[in-house]
Amino acid sequence: MWKGRFEKETSKLVQAYGESVSFDWRLFAQDVRGSIAHARGLERAGILTSDERAQIEKGLEEIRHEIARGDFEFKSALEDVHMNIEAELTRRIGPAGAKLHTARSRNDQVATDVRLYCRDSVDQLHVRIRDLQRALVEASERAEGAVVPGYTHLQRGQPVLFAHHLLAYVEMLDRDAARLMDARKRIDVMPLGSGALAGSTIILDREKVAADLGFSGVTQNSMDAVSDRDFVAEVLFTIALCGVHLSRLSEDVILWCSSEFGFVTLSDAHTTGSSLMPQKKNPDVAELTRGKTGRLIGNLVTLLTILKGLPMTYNRDMQEDKEPLFDSIDTLDAALEVFAEMMAGMEVRKERTAAATADPMLLATDLADYLVNHAVPFRQAHEVIGKLVAFSLSEKRGFADLTLAEYQQFSTAFESDVFDCLHVETALAARKATGAPSPKNIAAQLNRWRDELSSAKV
Ligand code: ARG
Repeated sequence: MWKGRFEKETSKLVQAYGESVSFDWRLFAQDVRGSIAHARGLERAGILTSDERAQIEKGLEEIRHEIARGDFEFKSALEDVHMNIEAELTRRIGPAGAKLHTARSRNDQVATDVRLYCRDSVDQLHVRIRDLQRALVEASERAEGAVVPGYTHLQRGQPVLFAHHLLAYVEMLDRDAARLMDARKRIDVMPLGSGALAGSTIILDREKVAADLGFSGVTQNSMDAVSDRDFVAEVLFTIALCGVHLSRLSEDVILWCSSEFGFVTLSDAHTTGSSLMPQKKNPDVAELTRGKTGRLIGNLVTLLTILKGLPMTYNRDMQEDKEPLFDSIDTLDAALEVFAEMMAGMEVRKERTAAATADPMLLATDLADYLVNHAVPFRQAHEVIGKLVAFSLSEKRGFADLTLAEYQQFSTAFESDVFDCLHVETALAARKATGAPSPKNIAAQLNRWRDELSSAKV
């Protein structure tokens, strides 16, 4: 492609070192799409005849089909997907093909292709997130009435509906979905026409080319346009954070299916056995997801590190953006898909959640609130209940098994109605502020999510 200036062939080692077609071949559909729009721009500018433009379009479509079918032979000597497609087009149609690269550089070409690829990918991931949200909402519905201890520091805190715990992940995923759509706005700007770095003396109507490619706008600074990979960083960050959310869900699932917790069972279809210990049923999908999240974070750090030392404008370092990008997209896509299936097969063991929630200590805060409602300042109430907890533990009798006289040894504010607040149902029903886990609130939240996630809206 640059033989004019050179006397020697590129060394075989350099070819092997610098080729990217072994991974960037995946941009072929976007590359063909971008080239067709560019050819139409060249035709409008009078550089191509309509016959030449038609030959280019037909040739590119044929190549696209062959690549999709796996019938195309990529050559690493031609470095990347862009040169492979262009060289093959020119081999097939001759002079018209040789005009395609007019007013274009691989720098604005690759930036355009990667943006088109990112746009398609965030749309696909968005669908996957919605599917997992729906699976979690359905799991929440199946968990009807199940109450679990809510934890801080992995120590039992206060009772919550299991649905409330699951819906926390629906919220996190909702922010991930919103972040993808926000990143999409900045992806959706066309760099084509920026040339190598300073545009071109051959003027194409960039806005028309952009409209043809479905871009919402065109970049405003050619130097920025060819060197900007912020949108890749944003996609990688959003993916990494969504991965972190899945990793936290993984950790919860792993705990829940342990014998110690026993809150859920996963389907046989989503667990594995041990080659040695016959009793084992392991939550490998969750463990793998927790592990793969390390890669997602690594890919973000890889890209930021590639970019941080780059002078303006395009530098070949930027070719290294693609492997982390593709890997993160593929990894999250697979994780979301398998998680949706696994959540659909997860069942709550209500006898186990009920046993865990029978722990009377979960109602200690409610007892403190009882005193507050009887005019005791909270700090004082906290101390009174602390002493009561110590007493109950040393007596090995739960709060419900203490007598009113015993209560009154700790505070004269206790009256016989104290026993009314010692029920999980009462404790939950009382938590009725927005965002808190009263059964009424949870029912409303489930309705809201069912509505928001109905196919009409997403
Ligand atoms: N394969 C290259 C990349 O991914 C395409 C752009 C090459 N541009 C260049 N001036 N060598 O970044």
